[in-house]
Amino acid sequence: MSNNPLTKDSKIPRPFLKWAGGKRQLLFELEKRLPHSILESGIIDRYVEPFVGGGAMFFYLENNYQVKKSILMDVNVELIMTYRVIQNDSKHLISILKDIEDKHLQKSEEDRKKNYYSIRDEFNTQLDEIDYLHYDHDWIQRAAHLIFLNKTCFNGLFRLNSKGEFNVPFGRYQNPTICDEPNLKSAHDSLKKTELLCTDFTQSQQFIDEGTLVYLDPPYRPLNNTSHFTGYSRDGFTDDDQKKLAEFYKKMDKKGAQLILSNSDPKNHDQKDDFFDKLYYGYNIERVPAKRNINSKTSRRGEIKELIIRNYSY
Ligand SMILES: C[S@@+](CC[C@H](N)C(=O)[O-])C[C@H]1O[C@@H](n2cnc3c(N)ncnc32)[C@H](O)[C@@H]1O
Repeated sequence: MSNNPLTKDSKIPRPFLKWAGGKRQLLFELEKRLPHSILESGIIDRYVEPFVGGGAMFFYLENNYQVKKSILMDVNVELIMTYRVIQNDSKHLISILKDIEDKHLQKSEEDRKKNYYSIRDEFNTQLDEIDYLHYDHDWIQRAAHLIFLNKTCFNGLFRLNSKGEFNVPFGRYQNPTICDEPNLKSAHDSLKKTELLCTDFTQSQQFIDEGTLVYLDPPYRPLNNTSHFTGYSRDGFTDDDQKKLAEFYKKMDKKGAQLILSNSDPKNHDQKDDFFDKLYYGYNIERVPAKRNINSKTSRRGEIKELIIRNYSY
């Protein structure tokens, strides 16, 4: 159990990828709101995270609590493939990544850039050849390339276009750590008791029971300053999906699970926007300070808040 979650977060394991919407900044607020029984005992019997992304919360809990069983999910096939490679073949992955790192860092800036684009091209060309359904040796090389691209691309964000291609440009870093061996080894150890699934969040219900701790961190609701149209989301997660998620939340609540959900607060941009207040009416809705880089007028005007919604208050 932790006294100071923020310093503890620098320990390993921590996310092995920088991920859009990563929750490392919110860990302090989330941990304070864990069920008392968990804070007191330090034990989590079953943990389910249906939108795992970079897994900031999962790795944090692994670091500071005894998590007996965990189930992690995400719809992103490349992401879950990489988790599974770390789970099954971390040694081989580390040796490929070390080799990539050594070669890359020896190059001049211009040659690093060429190397980046050549690996990016290879990554995108392989799209049609990879069998994402069955674990395969080819996945190891691909996971290494994904980590390389994540560590060396502009802004360090993994983003795919509508064709599933990785299209982020080269980023300039002096000495990027491409192969973080201690963290990859530690992440491998954490994933030993973990089930990894590439699927829609609704499929997690079969793993959720009375007493299961579920952390839900769906894609942010898109900002909607100028119109009332809310159907579009770059991540493909629409307001209808948010509604579907709220229905799912209610269903899991009835099962007796302990649920924590985080989301962007639309009130940051429009005080009258009570979309989530209506969807989660009757639950424990809190607005907590968040450190987020949002390029908008609102972020300059005041503090950005994040929503944390729980179905318990103990
Ligand atoms: C805000 S991110 C999660 C970030 C994560 N908490 C972290 O710390 O890195 C949301 C994730 O949901 C995934 N996602 C989007 N739609 C989904 C769906 N229908 N079912 C499951 N996962 C989904 C995205 O691929 C993305 O990784």
